[in-house]
Amino acid sequence: MDLVTALARARSAEEPGPGTPAGPAVPAWPGPPHPVPDAAPGELDLDRLLRLSLMASDASGRLRPAASAGALHPVDARLVVGTGCPLPPGRYGYDPLRHRVHHLGPPPHGTPPGVTVELTVTPRRTRSHYGHRAWPLLLLDTGHAAGALWLAARALGAAPTAPRLDGRTEDPLAAVHLPPPTRSRAPGPTPPRRSAPPPLRGTPPRDDLLALLRAAGEASAGELAWCAAVGPPDPGLLRAAPDGTLRRLAAGEARPTLAVWAARQGWIAEAGAVLLGHGCPDRSGAARIRRAHLRAGFAVQLAHVAAVRRGLAGRPVGSWQQADLGAALGGPPGRDLVVHGLALGTTHSEERTP
Ligand SMILES: Cc1cc2nc3c(=O)[nH]c(=O)nc-3n(C[C@H](O)[C@H](O)[C@H](O)COP(=O)(O)O)c2cc1C
Repeated sequence: MDLVTALARARSAEEPGPGTPAGPAVPAWPGPPHPVPDAAPGELDLDRLLRLSLMASDASGRLRPAASAGALHPVDARLVVGTGCPLPPGRYGYDPLRHRVHHLGPPPHGTPPGVTVELTVTPRRTRSHYGHRAWPLLLLDTGHAAGALWLAARALGAAPTAPRLDGRTEDPLAAVHLPPPTRSRAPGPTPPRRSAPPPLRGTPPRDDLLALLRAAGEASAGELAWCAAVGPPDPGLLRAAPDGTLRRLAAGEARPTLAVWAARQGWIAEAGAVLLGHGCPDRSGAARIRRAHLRAGFAVQLAHVAAVRRGLAGRPVGSWQQADLGAALGGPPGRDLVVHGLALGTTHSEERTP
């Protein structure tokens, strides 16, 4: 698969064809399924980690801690288990629908204590609906799953090391490592993250926008720049300036254009705000494309959870065509494109229900 060509095609105006079968939601892992045992004192709580990050909470597998384009959940997880875990050291495939593991083989030489969760994708699931637009979404989804793992690890007090989102390999696309706990800590709160159904109305307060822009910027580790489109009374694009304040990047209403760029989803024109991660020039190499999209997904997963914690409603928006933000702001074409977004509002669907 040539990712450079795949991204150029996904960003073009070409429409996807009819849907195709998504195939099974879980890889055909070999051997019998095993439950994830309870952790003894001092061991890493794998059961809770997987419940908080990857496990489906419904039989169809659509509802999971990580967001996913079309709820197709193309991301598969392998566990590389070292010492200090409730499972014997080895490699395991994870079944998120049944919350079971399948033993794949012995641990690779030099496996560190704790667990490394390696993420790969089954492209067919996302292609079934998005066709040639699938590849950026597959990478964004992987970033979201890495974000869910990282947040779950933090909630367990497990001090995860920085996630591997460098884009250097196709398999795994990403990895999150957790050492065994060094001291026992009460698990932190983990609010459920759900994507609010459109419409998402109401401009979030400026301090919330600033905090989310900063959180997304930090999580994307310099791979992308971030801004937020807001509507009346003072429409424009806002960004977090290096001095920590919210500054205007451009004046004027951007949301209708964003709605057209995002596969003509009309509701985006009325969203309270749209957080945008942009960069990844046309004709970037495969590693840079992977890195930018993995980081964008990771950042939007974290920003979405942060938004929910602040009482806001959020919905990721990841399918962008000809979304040349840099050119729209008067810069050279093909240099600065929208990679991912998070629509925000102040109202929740429950509040709108009569
Ligand atoms: C990479 C990505 C792209 C998405 N793009 C859109 C989108 O363009 N429009 C939309 O309405 N929802 C979009 N979503 C939200 C998904 O539809 C939503 O995550 C999915 O239905 C599962 O629901 P949940 O987030 O509540 O778990 C996207 C999610 C992800 C992760």
